[in-house]
Amino acid sequence: MDLLEQLNALPAQLKERLAQTSTEAELEAVRVDFLGRKGKLAELMAQMRNLTPEQRPAFGQAANAVKTSLIELFEARLAQQEQEREAAFIAGFDPSLPGRTLWNGSLHPITLAMEEVCSVFRNMGYEIAGGPEVETDFNCFEALNMPPEHPARDMQDTLYITDRVLLRTHTSSVQVRTMLKRKPPLAIIGPGKVYRRDSDVTHTPMFHQIEGLLVDKHVTMADLRGTLTAFVRAVFGEKTRVRFRPSFFPFTEPSVEVDMSCTQCGGQGHVNGQPCRVCKGSGWLEILGSGMVDPAVFTAVGYDPDEVTGFAFGLGVERIAMLKYGLTDLRMNFENDVRFLHQFPV
Ligand code: PHE
Repeated sequence: MDLLEQLNALPAQLKERLAQTSTEAELEAVRVDFLGRKGKLAELMAQMRNLTPEQRPAFGQAANAVKTSLIELFEARLAQQEQEREAAFIAGFDPSLPGRTLWNGSLHPITLAMEEVCSVFRNMGYEIAGGPEVETDFNCFEALNMPPEHPARDMQDTLYITDRVLLRTHTSSVQVRTMLKRKPPLAIIGPGKVYRRDSDVTHTPMFHQIEGLLVDKHVTMADLRGTLTAFVRAVFGEKTRVRFRPSFFPFTEPSVEVDMSCTQCGGQGHVNGQPCRVCKGSGWLEILGSGMVDPAVFTAVGYDPDEVTGFAFGLGVERIAMLKYGLTDLRMNFENDVRFLHQFPV
């Protein structure tokens, strides 16, 4: 075969080789073999110097034409391979398979309960107030009518940092801070974390409280009752019954505990003939501590108890969340199990 024949045979050879390739790597190997710097075409071109000067122009032209058709063949096969790959992918794609789960964040039940309680009071005109979790003995106890050695301090099982500095055991310290800073009238709620030396099935060493305080001229027990009744009904439904029981807190006088009709049995005390397990058969659930601010507290923060009166209340947010969402174990709130957390609305 002379050089020109060898040249003209290249396209047919390439076609044959291309037909046998299936991967991109194989295709590339064939391309190098034909069109590379040391490939078949280059080899033939190198032999051009053996031709006579008269033969060279025709050979050169033919070589260019062959090169173009080699490139075209190669590119056609490349495109074909891409189509084959896509067809194979589509053939293997099952549109009926379930999609991947999108993990949306959700709000923690404590956060939800906290926001709901706060929004009820915000709508009544209360302001949100805050304070630190590390508190002074004065703000947490002394100003709240609990001098050192007062037996009521035992009720709180305090975690101390030093003699006079502690982790706040209730958010009542926020009331003290706010009253020290501002003159009456005052309508605030203080949501936040509190700490007590207590840990068992129904107690965690950290939990959340929301405290409220209203101070003005002529605030009475009737205001307390009306406000807290409206609050309980806003959160648990208009049909909820509310009762006030005498109680004791060092910083309020008189003091009351507020019960509401049980969310589980509707106040019946029993479900299907069995004693209700949520209210233990009583039909009532304790939900708030409250009372008229003790004059000694006003004196401690520089308010005149002859000028102003007020009421205060405090509630546990975990308890609200458990009743609202039907949680059976307090500890679920702190385990951060996404299967649990995921169930709450965004
Ligand atoms: N601070 C009290 C507690 O932690 C709750 C409370 C607040 C009671 C305000 C009366 C008035 O138990």
